[in-house]
Amino acid sequence: MPSFDVVIIGSGIAALTAAYQLSADLNVIILTKSKKTNSNSNLAQGGIASAIGKDDSWQTHLTDTLVAGCHHNREDSTKLLVQTGPSYLEELIKEGMVFDLDIQKNLQLGKEGAHSTRRIVHAGGDSTGRELILHMLDRVKNRVQIIEDEMAIDLIIDNQSCIGVETKTFHDTTNQYYGTHIILATGGCGGLYSFTSNDESITGDGLAMAYRAGAQLADLEFIQFHPTLLHVNSKGCGLISEAVRGEGAILVSEDGRKLMKAVHPQEDLAPRDVVARVLHQEMLSGNKVYLDISMISNFEVHFPTITNLCESKGIQINKGLIPVIPGAHFSMGGVLTDHRGRTSIEGLYAVGEVACTGVHGANRLASNSLLEGIVFGNLVADDILNRKKMIIPNRTHAQTRNQYDHPTFILPTKTEIQQMMTENVGIVRSKEHLKIAIEWFETYKQQFDEASLSSLTKDQLISVNMITVGWLIATSALQRRESRGGHFREDYPKEDNLHWYKKEVIRTNQREK
Ligand code: SIN
Repeated sequence: MPSFDVVIIGSGIAALTAAYQLSADLNVIILTKSKKTNSNSNLAQGGIASAIGKDDSWQTHLTDTLVAGCHHNREDSTKLLVQTGPSYLEELIKEGMVFDLDIQKNLQLGKEGAHSTRRIVHAGGDSTGRELILHMLDRVKNRVQIIEDEMAIDLIIDNQSCIGVETKTFHDTTNQYYGTHIILATGGCGGLYSFTSNDESITGDGLAMAYRAGAQLADLEFIQFHPTLLHVNSKGCGLISEAVRGEGAILVSEDGRKLMKAVHPQEDLAPRDVVARVLHQEMLSGNKVYLDISMISNFEVHFPTITNLCESKGIQINKGLIPVIPGAHFSMGGVLTDHRGRTSIEGLYAVGEVACTGVHGANRLASNSLLEGIVFGNLVADDILNRKKMIIPNRTHAQTRNQYDHPTFILPTKTEIQQMMTENVGIVRSKEHLKIAIEWFETYKQQFDEASLSSLTKDQLISVNMITVGWLIATSALQRRESRGGHFREDYPKEDNLHWYKKEVIRTNQREK
C-alpha cells in the first residue's frame, strides 16, 4: 500500500508546477493515465497572458478577462490570477524557461482574441505548451516519481476526507495510492465532443471521479468551442492558434466573404463563443470555412508547429487558405475550489482545467489557461506546505464506493457519446435537444449509479466517466435558462441578468455526501 505526502493525478502544467514546489520538502508522486507529455498544456500553442507590456496593467488584463467571461467570473480569484501572474512568470524565467524575444531582447508579446493589447508571452513561436512542459519535466526530474499509463478510477474517501486514489494499470490490474493530500489535475472534457483541440486522453475523468466522491462541481454548462481547428477529411486535426488571427488572418467563406465583418467590433478577434457560433451557422448551411493567412509574411517562421501540422495533413500553407472548424477546447466549470485550490472534500485539491476557481467566468480569455495552471499550481503547493504537519488519516477503513456485484454493463462507444454531445449539447443548445441527450445518458447511467467500478476495464471506465460528465453538462445546461459565454441556448438567446447574474449551477452527488 504505497503512501505519499502528496498524490497528484495528471501531468499538465498545473500538476507539474505544484509537484515542483512541493517536492523540495515532501514526498510527491504523479500518476498519469497516458504518457507524461500527453496533456492539453503540452498542446497549447498561443502562450501565457501576462500584463507586462509598458502600456499594460493588471487592471486592464482584469477587465479583458471579466468582459470575455461575461462577468460571470469570481472577481477575487480573477484579480489574484492577473495580479500575481507576472511575478510567477518572472520566477519561471529566472529558473531557466526560455521565451521568445524581440530584437531588443525584450519578451515578444503576441495578441489574441478579446485582449485589448499585446500581452501573450510565447516560446518556440507556437509551441509554448510543449516548451513549458519540457522545462517543468526537467525541473521535477529526480525529485518526483511519475507513473505513466495508470488511470485513476476513484478517489478513496475515509471519514469524509480524501486519502488516496484507486487506479487501473496498463494491464488492467488495480492499485491504491494513499496520501495526506490528493491533487486532481486531470484537465477538462474536450474528448466528449466529435471535434476537439484536446489531447486524446482528456475524457472528463477527474470531473466524474470528484462527482462520484461527493465533491461540489460548478459551471459545467460553460464549454468553450475554439473557432479554428484544422478541418481535413471531416475531422478536426489539431489547433490553429488564435495568435494567427492576432497577426492579421481572417475567417472567410468558400466564396471569399469575410465572415466576421460587421458581426462584432473586434471582428476576427471577437470572443471565441461569438466567432464559433458564426462559423457553426455558416457550416450548417453546408459551406466550408477557411482561415485566410495570405497577408502573414514568413508564416512558417512565426508558426512552425501549425505549418508542420498543416503539411502533415496535405494542406499547403503557401496557398494562403487553411480549412477550419470549431471544436471543444476548454471547460470553464469543474470541481469547485477556493482560491487555494481546496475543494469541498477535506484533503482533496483541484487545479488547472479540472477546477472551477471562477477565474474564467462563462468564457475563458485566450492564454489565461497556462497562466491559471502556473498561478494556482503555486497556490495549492503553498497551502499544502503550510498544512503539512496535518495528522495522517487512518487508512484502515478506507472505501472507494459501495462494493457489490453488478451485471455486465451495456455501454455506448466513445464515438456515439461524442455524436450525442456534438448534436445536442454543442455550440447551440435548446431544451428539446438537451432533453434528448439527458434521456439517452440516463438509460446508461442507471446501470452504474450504485455499482463498484473496480472490475471494469479502462475503456469501460472511460465510457462511464464520459456518460457521467455528458449528463452533468446537459442537465446543468438545461437548468440555465439564458445564454452567456460558452453556453448558448436558441430558446433563451440573451443574457438574463435579472435571474442569472453571477449565479452558479452547483452539482453534488447527494447519495455520496
Ligand atoms: C490558441 O492558441 O488559440 C489557444 C490558446 C488558448 O486557448 O488559450
